[in-house]
Amino acid sequence: MKPKEILVFGASGQIGRHLIRKFTKNNYKVIAVTRNIHQKGYILKTQANPGYLEIEELRLFDDNKLKDLISNCSVCINLIGILYEKKENQFKNIHTEFPKLLSKLSNELKIQQLIHVSSLGIDNANDSQYASTKIEGEKAVKKNFNKSVILKPSIVYSVDDNFTTNLMTLLNRLPIMPIYYEGKTKFTPIHVTDFAEIIFEIVKKKITGQTIECVGPEEISFKEIINKLLKSIGKKRPLISIPLPIAKISAKLFQIMPKPLLTCDQLNLLKYNNVISGINKTNFDLGLIATKKFETEIEKYSYNWREGGQFSKKKFSTIE
Ligand SMILES: NC(=O)c1ccc[n+]([C@@H]2O[C@H](COP(=O)([O-])OP(=O)(O)OC[C@H]3O[C@@H](n4cnc5c(N)ncnc54)[C@H](OP(=O)(O)O)[C@@H]3O)[C@@H](O)[C@H]2O)c1
Repeated sequence: MKPKEILVFGASGQIGRHLIRKFTKNNYKVIAVTRNIHQKGYILKTQANPGYLEIEELRLFDDNKLKDLISNCSVCINLIGILYEKKENQFKNIHTEFPKLLSKLSNELKIQQLIHVSSLGIDNANDSQYASTKIEGEKAVKKNFNKSVILKPSIVYSVDDNFTTNLMTLLNRLPIMPIYYEGKTKFTPIHVTDFAEIIFEIVKKKITGQTIECVGPEEISFKEIINKLLKSIGKKRPLISIPLPIAKISAKLFQIMPKPLLTCDQLNLLKYNNVISGINKTNFDLGLIATKKFETEIEKYSYNWREGGQFSKKKFSTIE
């Protein structure tokens, strides 16, 4: 059977690597796009059997190369996103201008589907650049290509994420844990394999022209997330609620770091609940059920942060 070609931008990230495995195992051919084949090649090459994966290097706004890539695929998936800005990596370029160009070319080259991954909980976050540029990106994609599917996931977590793993490292090292907005902000975390399954089904069922909010089976507050992580790594830490003016000063200091733990923009975003809006359809409405529960899944990799690390007595398999 001739494999169908799926073009994935941002393929080396957490979601991208899981998607490559899901598609190639199911007989699709994936073309993974990265900015730097030398840096990311090693991690990409190991995600699929030979013959099922090609790797392409691209500078984002290279129109000719983009046209070449898009014209060789039937489905294009955009996973490129950033959490903070650096000199050359600006929210507007990554979250608005690139999706705008990608959707314009997808329309011109008449591909079957464009799946653009945006975020949940950003629609009212006018004081966050991350959020407003993502919203502008969604609008451009919808306007330019009516076969686009926009996915808005809540936190996507796994052993490969930057969220639970960083939090567990902090909980291990800090004597106290600072929490913002009293830890009341609500999330609907979705496990990366559930999210990859949703994307796979959207391609398989040839769903087009929809905006879908992608959530896991539970609504959990930030404080509950921290408590579940603490329980899972077998640690106790006092949770200290930080008043907003002090939180703002600490975010200003943190954002100077090369890989900031928190930026002012993220602090602003953190006050908005990350739950379904009631405006768009959800994965559950489409019968794409996410089943994995947060506490059960983090138990499978949290032993790395428990007393004894990899030799911890409480150990679970991480193999999916
Ligand atoms: N993870 C979550 O909890 C979550 C929640 C909501 C929405 N999302 C969205 O889902 C998408 C994928 O998330 P993820 O967690 O897989 O992200 P990730 O692990 O950070 O990976 C994103 C990928 O984007 C590429 N990238 C980063 N900066 C780039 C730039 N300046 N130019 C071109 N490519 C760049 C990188 O690929 P190369 O280095 O190989 O070029 C990277 O592997 C993002 O749009 C994100 O905003 C994620």
